[in-house]
Amino acid sequence: MPNFYITTPIYYVNDLPHLGHAYTTILADVMARYHRAIGDQVHFLTGTDEHGLKVQQAAQERGADPQAHTDEYVRRFQDLWQRLHISNDDFIRTTEERHKGVVQALLQDLYDKDELYKTEYEGYYSVSDERFITAREAESGQFKQIETVKETNWFFRMSDYQERLVAHIEAQPKFILPVSRRNEVLGFLRQPLRDLCISRPKSRLTWGIELPFDSDYVTYVWFDALTNYISAIGYGSDEERFNKWWPVNMHLIGKDILITHSVYWPTMLMAAGVSLPKTIFAHGWWLMGGDKMSKTAGNVVQPLDLIEHVGVDPVRYFLMREMVLGQDATFTPQQFMQRYNADLANDLGNLTHRISKFIRRHFDGRIPPPARPTDPAPEAALQQAAADVVAAVPTLVEDMRLHEALGAIMELVRKVNRYLEQTQPWKQIKQDREATGNTLYVAAEALRIAAQLLHPVMPNRMDSIRQLIGAGGVNLADLAWGALLPGVEVGEPRAPFPRLEALPQAATDIAGAEDDAGRASWEDFEKLDLRIAEVLAAERLPGADKLLKLRVALDDGERQIVAGIAPQYTPESLIGKRLVLVANLQPATIRGTESQGMLLAAAGEQLVLATVDAADMAPGAKVG
Ligand code: MSP
Repeated sequence: MPNFYITTPIYYVNDLPHLGHAYTTILADVMARYHRAIGDQVHFLTGTDEHGLKVQQAAQERGADPQAHTDEYVRRFQDLWQRLHISNDDFIRTTEERHKGVVQALLQDLYDKDELYKTEYEGYYSVSDERFITAREAESGQFKQIETVKETNWFFRMSDYQERLVAHIEAQPKFILPVSRRNEVLGFLRQPLRDLCISRPKSRLTWGIELPFDSDYVTYVWFDALTNYISAIGYGSDEERFNKWWPVNMHLIGKDILITHSVYWPTMLMAAGVSLPKTIFAHGWWLMGGDKMSKTAGNVVQPLDLIEHVGVDPVRYFLMREMVLGQDATFTPQQFMQRYNADLANDLGNLTHRISKFIRRHFDGRIPPPARPTDPAPEAALQQAAADVVAAVPTLVEDMRLHEALGAIMELVRKVNRYLEQTQPWKQIKQDREATGNTLYVAAEALRIAAQLLHPVMPNRMDSIRQLIGAGGVNLADLAWGALLPGVEVGEPRAPFPRLEALPQAATDIAGAEDDAGRASWEDFEKLDLRIAEVLAAERLPGADKLLKLRVALDDGERQIVAGIAPQYTPESLIGKRLVLVANLQPATIRGTESQGMLLAAAGEQLVLATVDAADMAPGAKVG
């Protein structure tokens, strides 16, 4: 069984966790869950970076002791990871003994190997980035909180490793990804590499790990932090464990910390005689877009706030679907709503609802057995489409093209919808029950495969979809066609992704709420179940000039409707029309005939039925 070790950066505890932190951690979680699902042994590490000037200052500002501050702030990260369904196997804090011991042992080792020396240095220091910067960098405007520092410190002979590092990057195309970042690092390495300052005098910073060979100094926070990737897996103390996981398969980072990870860290490892990471992958940044996100307008809709409103999994899906890995992406609430309603509520949610509802109504709530189809072509095409996606996803994940993998899976979902359009089980059921059973089996099986593939991104919602279509017991790794077992009970139908009508608004937007008299609230509106209904048959109601009696199809069966439209419509002209039906209206008896719903129509001088002009809108589709 292959091993897969993946890490996130360890986050500073000087701030509250935000979308940036959440994004990297969710991405790592998706990768970890994917590798577990394909049968790998996975070790997924995240944690917190608790030493250094930034954290010391944050504690000071709150008048807190640094340890008390970190103990409090670390919980916010841990709580958020729990809420976000993060499945990390370990959580490392750099203030833990298991970590501090390894940092000191590593320093001692480098000291013994004469890799470290003490000298006076004068230069610029960026507190926000916690590193010395060159004069050019200081002028570039990219760095904040710049201080001039003149002091004696300990240095690591990093410059000695420049050539070896360049050779390694050139020989290993997957060492730094994406290629644009690899080129950026190679560009950086075209300048002479300087030695790395790895200490801070205690006169300036006390909150850190003391150098084992010079008690006047604490360890530079990046040297301390990077070591977490090996301290957490037992470097120097548990050789078996360490060798099981190292070299790490993937360090996931944001582009802001590329140089520390692909220059400082590999050279530190080279000096210590430890092999290098297989891949360092740097993703882009999330930017906040659209007017709605301005804090001054008072109506900030933060992605993490959405969790309260729509749940965790849709937010995970959005973040993974929307960011092209390696590039920056913009968040707007409008984009979120569009993506949610189109992909999750409509394509995936309605499909699940239709399938489970139909099976409950017509097949006693149990997965019908596969049988000979009326026409084998649509089934063969769908089965092939599922096999193609199953074959494509591993390469897309391997290449970190997750947004494309999700695009391909959602395309399969749309194909299942189209397959139902083609086979029309709501009509088929009247002619051939067995063939209809087969149609439902095929649709449910294709949906199951899509849900298994989506599971790493939306674990909870996909578990509910699996329950809803009777696939709860199928092993997640089983992507072969036919794993869905006939006879298994499907769940009580419900929409796994209720349609979103509005996103939460901030306080300023709700101020106008008092003058709402006479308006329908969202709750009022949401009570209405508006659906597309296809007219199967129509006739005049004997003895009533204005009334027609219609038989219409929804996705879950047929209804009889009595409508006062005879003056405007002949019965024949209505056959095959797709109309809008209020499907959950209390049945009424009109002239002795029951009417199970009401058709929407525009009524003025004339009367015109509301129709839907889209051939691929299936009967039963929700309108709203
Ligand atoms: N403590 C260091 C990392 C040490 S790793 C040995 C650090 N911490 S941090 O708290 O500032 O988190 C940085 C990480 O958060 C970035 O690398 C990136 O993964 C993520 N992001 C922070 N803001 C971000 C966005 N706006 N968008 C996406 N991710 C960004 O640096």
